[in-house]
Amino acid sequence: MVPQTYIADIAEFAGKRVTVAGWVYNKTGKGKLLFIMLRDGTGTIQAVVFKGNVSEEIFAACENLPQESSLRVTGTVAADARAKGGYELQADDVEIVHSAADYPITPKEHGIDFLMDNRHLWLRSAKQHAILKVRHEIIKAARNFFDSQDFTLIDAPIFTPNACEGTTTLFETDYFDTKAYLTQSGQLYMEAAAMAFGKVYCFGPTFRAEKSKTRRHLTEFWMIEPEVAFYDLQQDMDLAEQMVEFIVGSVLENRRDELEVLERDIAKLENVSRPFPRILYDDAVRILREAGADFKDGDDFGAPDETIISEKFTKPLMITHYPAAVKAFYMKRDPQRPDRALCVDMIAPEGYGEIIGGGQREDDLDVLVERLQKHNLPLQAFQWYLDIRKYGSVPHAGFGMGLERAVAWICGRSHIRETIPFPRTMYRLNP
Ligand code: 4AD
Ligand code: MG
Repeated sequence: MVPQTYIADIAEFAGKRVTVAGWVYNKTGKGKLLFIMLRDGTGTIQAVVFKGNVSEEIFAACENLPQESSLRVTGTVAADARAKGGYELQADDVEIVHSAADYPITPKEHGIDFLMDNRHLWLRSAKQHAILKVRHEIIKAARNFFDSQDFTLIDAPIFTPNACEGTTTLFETDYFDTKAYLTQSGQLYMEAAAMAFGKVYCFGPTFRAEKSKTRRHLTEFWMIEPEVAFYDLQQDMDLAEQMVEFIVGSVLENRRDELEVLERDIAKLENVSRPFPRILYDDAVRILREAGADFKDGDDFGAPDETIISEKFTKPLMITHYPAAVKAFYMKRDPQRPDRALCVDMIAPEGYGEIIGGGQREDDLDVLVERLQKHNLPLQAFQWYLDIRKYGSVPHAGFGMGLERAVAWICGRSHIRETIPFPRTMYRLNP
C-alpha cells in the first residue's frame, strides 16, 4: 500500500512514493509534460505527469482535466528548489475521482457580486483560504489567551428577551406566544456569570439589524466577550491590550504563509506591542478639529472620524470617556464627570476602525433602574439583570471584540465580507 499524505506533510516523504488526494487548482502543459497544481486544503503541490510514466489513457484524461476536478495522484516526492513548498510530485498514477463541470471561478478577474454569489466555491481560492485560516488562528489565540488565565467559558443564549445594544438594531422573531430577539451581545449574561465564576468569557454569533451598507457592518458577526468581577476601566483596558497583543503575536508566529499570500505588511503587525496609546474622547475631538473634520462635539465617531484619528497613531488606539449620552444604558458614569461614561473603544491602526467596545458597568441598582427608564427599556424583561445589583453588587468590567473586524485588520482586507465564511448583510442572505 502506498501511504497517503496531506500536502502540508509532504517533506516527510521526500524521495518516497505517496498518494495525494485533492483538486486541480491549475493546469499547464507542453508536449509530453503536464503540470497539475493540486490543492488539498493544507497546501498546493505541482504534480508532474510525464507521458512515459503513465498509461496512455491516464495521460489523455489528464490532458482534458477541467479545473477543480478531484484526483488521487500517486508518485515520487522530489525536492525542487523552484517549486512552491520546495517539492514536486512526479506522478506515475492518477485516479480521477470526479471530473468537474465548467468551474465558474477562473483565473480571470471577476466582479465582487459574482464572487459573493459563488462564495461556496470562492472559499477554495488562495486569498479567501488564507483569510479563513487567519480567522481560525485568531479564534484559537483568543481562547488560549483566556483559557490560560483561568477564565471560564460561559455560553450566552442566542434567543433573548432583552435589548443589550439599543432597540434600533434588534432582530425580532416569533417565539411561540411571545416575541424573542436574536442576541446583540452576550454581555448581560456574562455579567451574571462573572458574579458566579469571577472571570468569564463567551464567544458566539451576535446579530444586529444594521440597515447600513458599509465595509464594516454585518448583520451576523461573532464576538469574543470577557467580563471580570471587581475590575475597573483601567484593568479592563489592560486586559484588552494584552489580548490583542497576544492574538497578533500568534498570527505572526503561526500564519506567516497566509499573511504572505495576502501581501500583508508584516512590519505593521510586528509593531503591535504594548503599551497602546490611550486618549480621552476630548483628545480625539481635538485631533478631528485640527484635521479640519466636520464633527459635532458630543457625537459618536463615525468610520471616517475613526480613520482620521487613528492615522495619528501606529498602534491600536484606546479612546475612553465618551459622552454617556451616545453610549449604552449599562455604562457606568465617571464620578468626576457624570456626563462621561467609563468606556473604551479600541480603534485599529491603518483605518480599520473600531475592533473593541467595552468598559465598566453601572453597579448601582437605583441608577440602573433610572437608566433603563430613560432608554425606554422594559423593566420587566430586565428584572433578572437588576438582581445582579441586588445580591452582592461589585464593580465589574468587560469588553467585546468583533471577530470579523479583527480579521479584516490583521489580514489587511478593506471589506468585512471576506472575513467570515458566509457573510450576512442587509443585501445578502445567500449562499
Ligand atoms: O461596541 P459594541 O456594540 O459593544 C458591545 O456589544 C458590548 N456589549 C460588548 C461588551 O462589552 N461585552 O460591539 C463590540 C464590537 C465592536 O467594537 C465591533 O468590533 C463589533 O463588535 N461590531 C460589529 N462587527 C461587525 N458588524 C457589526 N454590525 C458590528 N457591530 C459591532
Ligand atoms: Mg461600539
